[in-house]
Amino acid sequence: MTKSFAEIPHDPGPWLTGSLARFRAAPHRYPADLANRHGGLARFRILHRNLLAVSDPRLIDEILCRRPDLYVRGRQYRNMQQAIGRGLLSTMGPGWKERRTLLNPLFRADRLRRVVQTSEAATGELLERWEAKRRAGEPVPGVADARWLSITVMARTLFTRDLAEPEILRLSDLIQQGTALIRQKNMSLWNPPAWVPTARNRQLAGIRGFVDHLLVRELERPRTGSTADEDNLLAGIVALRDPQSGAPLPREAVLDELRTLFTAGFETTSAALAWTLWRLARHPDVAARWQAEIDQLPTDQPLTPDHLKRLPYTDQVIHETLRLHPPVYNMARVAQADDELAGYQVPRGTIAMISIYGLHRSPALWSDPLEFRPGRFAENPSGGNRLIPFGAGPHLCIGMAFALFELKTALTCLGRRFRLVLADDREIPERAEISLSPACEIPLLLEPR
Ligand code: HEM
Repeated sequence: MTKSFAEIPHDPGPWLTGSLARFRAAPHRYPADLANRHGGLARFRILHRNLLAVSDPRLIDEILCRRPDLYVRGRQYRNMQQAIGRGLLSTMGPGWKERRTLLNPLFRADRLRRVVQTSEAATGELLERWEAKRRAGEPVPGVADARWLSITVMARTLFTRDLAEPEILRLSDLIQQGTALIRQKNMSLWNPPAWVPTARNRQLAGIRGFVDHLLVRELERPRTGSTADEDNLLAGIVALRDPQSGAPLPREAVLDELRTLFTAGFETTSAALAWTLWRLARHPDVAARWQAEIDQLPTDQPLTPDHLKRLPYTDQVIHETLRLHPPVYNMARVAQADDELAGYQVPRGTIAMISIYGLHRSPALWSDPLEFRPGRFAENPSGGNRLIPFGAGPHLCIGMAFALFELKTALTCLGRRFRLVLADDREIPERAEISLSPACEIPLLLEPR
């Protein structure tokens, strides 16, 4: 017999606000701990809204993969439209599906050779700066440098041409500010539409203005006809044609997707790289094994996707880092009709908060879940449905291969030159904004190899 929604184990919280304060204080940890305390499913309330905290892999599969039309993206995703427009990340339904089908081929692993070349070149520039710091006996800033690398690789893969350094730094700052504002909007009780001139709406409009100025300039820049110019990602997007009408994407749609790629791809990848650098510096035994693996690659030729496929231990290190530090820690879906989950009634309008953080740290699924042990993936390299840092189902991250190529290239280039040593041994606190990133700088000392 189906049990009622009220019978799902729950955290009542204060009567008026429910769990608002607890969720706001730790949006990654609160649903994770709640769900894991109750076997992978629990309910909580924020004001009048009912939410489910879900960390059971079978239920996650049910929601994301088996019934994606019933559990759809909600308000949090729509709020993004104010900053990034109506691209892949902020839409759903038939329009999203058509767009996704159109864009998919551009992100297939065999089209991403360029990401490897670009990452190798950008990491080479970073290494020159690192070498100068090493000579001066100074630490390098792991978090800031991961951010630089990630935004630089994204900009150069999209546009070919170098943006000027101050422009890159400004873009990265503004994207960070914009995503922080969107998150405030998601968390806030009073959420007026974009046309109301609140301080937050005005700030968001300003950010979008600057980013658009830059994107439009790149879009309108005359193409030189060079190979580099023709095979950049922007040229790929502009060349897309609607399979029925043969029409190109409207200009506004191209801009929407460009804003989306920067927003979805930059902070996530830079957080992943920063956490990996920290983990490698913190676990010298893991780093030694990883460096022995990358030393097997030829050094007299540029890196290629084929080289990167031959790095199983590097894959394990990245998986283990993304398990403990998933840049996307929650994904929300809203039930479009009454449903039944795990034998409980779920009323229409319930928000299912998929806790990636909880799934990845569940003691029921992982032995010693808080320990960093890349070798745990030796037997089951993909981690199965217990490991979903890139999501699952139809909205699976379109940039997964892009991100993994970028990470593996950067790590290989850095690891060939230096051993990383932590300048101090403190724990690194987490900052749960749109992405889960290190809340402070990670100073790294470099030892030549
Ligand atoms: C380590 C880095 C990354 C992580 C952990 C990550 C994670 C995710 C996750 C969990 C989703 C699913 C969101 C949902 O279902 O609601 C997603 C979607 C998406 N990601 Fe990533 N991502 C990363 C890098 C990238 C990169 C580099 C790009 C672009 C080049 C990108 C572009 C996107 C886009 C456009 C979507 C929306 C896909 C859709 O709904 O069709 N991501 N990502």
